[in-house]
Amino acid sequence: MTVTVLFAAGEALWPEYGPHLRVAFAGAGLDAALVTEATPGEVDYIVYAPGSALQDFTPYTRCRAVLNLWAGVERIVGNPTLTQPLCRMVDPGLTEGMVEYVTGHVLRHHLGMDRYIKGAPGWQQIVPPLARERVVAMLGLGELGLACARALKALNFAVEGWSRSAKTGLDIPAHHGEAGLEALLRKAEIVVTLLPRTAETENLLDARRLAWLPQGAVIVNPGRGALIDDDALLAALDSGALGHATLDVFRIEPLPEDHPFRHHPGVTVTPHIAADTRASSAARVVAENIRRGEAGEPLLHQVDLTRGY
Ligand SMILES: NC(=O)c1ccc[n+]([C@@H]2O[C@H](COP(=O)([O-])OP(=O)(O)OC[C@H]3O[C@@H](n4cnc5c(N)ncnc54)[C@H](OP(=O)(O)O)[C@@H]3O)[C@@H](O)[C@H]2O)c1
Repeated sequence: MTVTVLFAAGEALWPEYGPHLRVAFAGAGLDAALVTEATPGEVDYIVYAPGSALQDFTPYTRCRAVLNLWAGVERIVGNPTLTQPLCRMVDPGLTEGMVEYVTGHVLRHHLGMDRYIKGAPGWQQIVPPLARERVVAMLGLGELGLACARALKALNFAVEGWSRSAKTGLDIPAHHGEAGLEALLRKAEIVVTLLPRTAETENLLDARRLAWLPQGAVIVNPGRGALIDDDALLAALDSGALGHATLDVFRIEPLPEDHPFRHHPGVTVTPHIAADTRASSAARVVAENIRRGEAGEPLLHQVDLTRGY
């Protein structure tokens, strides 16, 4: 029987995603009607993105899953009308992009590239330590954090991770809990934040925890803006306690032109470009989840609505 898939991720994404989804559905052997409008009670799956006009899931009584095109789900998990299973995007293309972003920005700070790009006067030879001597803290050891940690480890960085649950058997040292965070931050010269935004992670890096970092430490945040207390970050940069912050995500996006981050010499702003979902590989993930749904198999990357990620 034909399954009806409503593309509710917005008009802007439709021209790019429509053709890739059709190819992926055919590749997965699905008999699927991909539509941008439908009677809610006749929809079997919803392809979704956070800015969608669809906010009331109540009438979608037959819908078997909402398939988000984004990795982050903080703008949908709290929707009280959502009773259908929600899956987030885990896209190999997105992961690759994040690994490249994180590796590039960590290397920039590790090697002190700015000094020479800006044209350091004279002939002062400042040789950076080897990567093996540089402790990098990876906050978040999920799909993205772990992939980035492994890429940095392959470059010999002394990477250690931190997550909500205790991890055993990983190929990098892993910490959890408040004591684990403190132990890691106290030795981390570079911190990468790849955590979801939840009630628990909001303002995780506040003044108290930022003060645990060694003098001159650098933060790279491609996770979510709310993970860091903006004012505490600016104060730590102004006092010289922190060396630099490379920020890709913000509490308000686009970041307002008059926000202090925009013009602060210790802040690099990138406009939420660390890692985008790639339509061709993401379409295959969506198709596979619909195939699983129809075959009665467990869905991939299902979000725990109470945990918030
Ligand atoms: N800037 C961009 O372009 C961009 C693109 C994609 C994603 N992102 C961001 O990256 C985030 C991470 O993505 P992902 O795919 O790696 O997510 P994920 O697979 O769900 O992993 C999340 C990680 O965060 C940990 N975590 C969650 N809550 C925690 C807490 N309270 N304390 C400590 N650790 C906690 C989890 O711990 P456990 O392992 O114990 O569960 C897990 O290791 C997304 O949520 C999104 O915000 C940004």
